[in-house]
Amino acid sequence: MTAATHTPRVFSGIKPSGGLTLGNYLGAIKRFVDMQGQDYETIYCVVDLHAITVWQDPAELKNATREVAAGFIASGIDPTKSILFNQASVPQHAELGWIFNCVARVGWMNRMTQFKDKAGKNAEKVSLGLYAYPSLMAADILLYHATHVPVGEDQKQHVELTRDIATKFNNDFKCDDFFPMCEPIIEGPATRVMNLRDGSKKMSKSGESDMERINMTDDADTIAKKFKKAKTDPEPLPESLDGLSERPEARNLVNIYAALSDTTNEAVIAEFGGEGWGKFKPALADLAVDKLAPISTEMKRLMDDPAEIDRILLAGADRAQEIAEPILQQTYDIVGLLRPKR
Ligand code: TYM
Repeated sequence: MTAATHTPRVFSGIKPSGGLTLGNYLGAIKRFVDMQGQDYETIYCVVDLHAITVWQDPAELKNATREVAAGFIASGIDPTKSILFNQASVPQHAELGWIFNCVARVGWMNRMTQFKDKAGKNAEKVSLGLYAYPSLMAADILLYHATHVPVGEDQKQHVELTRDIATKFNNDFKCDDFFPMCEPIIEGPATRVMNLRDGSKKMSKSGESDMERINMTDDADTIAKKFKKAKTDPEPLPESLDGLSERPEARNLVNIYAALSDTTNEAVIAEFGGEGWGKFKPALADLAVDKLAPISTEMKRLMDDPAEIDRILLAGADRAQEIAEPILQQTYDIVGLLRPKR
């Protein structure tokens, strides 16, 4: 089978560690929704096994998993059109992850910038799971022979590593294109949403201050306050896009506006060029509230019935296993491992 003949299939995932941010929404979930019902089969996963590579309070993890699932559904992922499940419910992920631990090289892991950022000076003390994380991520993708992986910019290196693992496996075991060369899909104006207080840092759920991010569950007043207090410079918005190149905070807010309104940065500049922040920030806050309030209301409604979320995830896990199990079985066979057919 050549890469071109693999069924077009999308896979992506989000960790249930802390709440969802506007970065997760614009860089990932919103784009997952756009890809649903197109020419691909779409598989979306709450990657709870990835979350525990750093400490998670067991009392909170299950709820955090349900909350990410609720975020997916409330944003428009339809569990009848896409396969939606949590990673721990499909044990084949961990099985293939182990095989890839034996394919990937230590030197490859040492080059992962996200590991270096997360481990910082503490690299000796972090979990082995955090180090091997990209290998499990490769397993998530390749377990479904996924061909397209929509992610934010920060995940590009991990998807490239997935391709390296697929290539080495295919070569080592002389199995042609058994694992496809997946493509990272990193598109749109908000593939890297930045921190609202420091335009040089990514918006993340683990940042120190809540004021630096928009959470998917923030209420209207909080969203308005955070945008009002977002760091900017004294200049008005430029008349052309070039004028944003040395202005990271201004560029970030324009990117967010463009992504939320499904338009381009050029169109935003055409509308607001020359205007001051006193006009742009309230317009951005109104737009964000308009788009996010129905999602957070729906998330809360879904979270009132955790049993229903569990039922949806379980049904998704059954469908995921129908694809994953034969691929894993073939992988074991290729490697020469005995594994009874399930
Ligand atoms: P995670 O949980 O950190 O983030 C989930 C998705 O959100 C995107 N994202 C952002 N996009 C734009 N701006 C931001 N500030 C921002 N913050 C987060 C991420 O790029 C990601 O797409 N390793 C992955 C999860 C994962 C995965 C996979 C993804 C595990 N297995 C297989 C794709 C395929 C992660 O930690 O994402």
